[in-house]
Amino acid sequence: MNIVKKTVKDDIPKIEVRHLETKQKSEEEVNNHLIYIDSTSELSAANRFIKNRFNKDADQYDKWLEDFQFHLLFDEICQKYNFAGTIIDIGCGTGLGGKTILKYNNGSRITGIDFAEEMAKKAVQSGYANVYVGLMEEIVPYLSSENKRFDHVISLGAIFCLSSDIVTNFLSSLFEIAEKSITLEIDEITDEFLANIEKIQNFRAPFFNNTPIVERFHFPNNWKIVHKEKYYMWTSPTTKDKIYGIFVRYEKIVSEEIN
Ligand SMILES: C[S@@+](CC[C@H](N)C(=O)[O-])C[C@H]1O[C@@H](n2cnc3c(N)ncnc32)[C@H](O)[C@@H]1O
Repeated sequence: MNIVKKTVKDDIPKIEVRHLETKQKSEEEVNNHLIYIDSTSELSAANRFIKNRFNKDADQYDKWLEDFQFHLLFDEICQKYNFAGTIIDIGCGTGLGGKTILKYNNGSRITGIDFAEEMAKKAVQSGYANVYVGLMEEIVPYLSSENKRFDHVISLGAIFCLSSDIVTNFLSSLFEIAEKSITLEIDEITDEFLANIEKIQNFRAPFFNNTPIVERFHFPNNWKIVHKEKYYMWTSPTTKDKIYGIFVRYEKIVSEEIN
């Protein structure tokens, strides 16, 4: 796996000027915070579709999210639980999750992972220290093998993009890199929603209902679930389906609790 810390390169699409307004980082500064991890194999058609879609939608993304519930719910979670220290935000998008964490923990250091470069650049503008640009299902095991650890792991609205057959291994890898907590938001992708997308766009979207896998997952026995609740999360801009999902937070049991 190649790791390239990119400086400015001609082949990087220019960020539009309006994103660089007042005290925003320059393009060169943004690129210096991106760490490119090449995939070990060619991206699947599903991943190419999702990556292109988010690269294309990066400018509108935060505007859409304004009307959605799930970041308001995450704000409440941030007020209730500890997010001090180092954080890794998996499928970080534009960095809305990290921004909320920084609102209540301004000393926290946030790292992101996202394969859509245009989203990753916005996360840097949102205050992320670094963003790994590449596949989360490859980068998390890679970080684990490099003995990289983070106090808190979060992943919001991204696990529905993972094919269900890799989710159990992916969840296990999260417990290898987390020192204190893991907070996940997992969307319930219904067949009805997928059928409605198919009607409008004439193709089956590569989105997956991974909530049952998370529900059944056998997490390590030195961890406990401190929060699990089902909520209305967002409405599809394409089909107007209302999407529900679960927020689940795991915390590592500290040794006094075990004794
Ligand atoms: C719905 S957005 C959620 C963004 C952010 N977590 C939030 O809460 O606003 C999903 C993000 O996951 C990223 N993503 C999806 N599949 C991925 C994969 N296999 N590897 C890395 N990033 C991925 C997309 O590029 C996109 O930015």
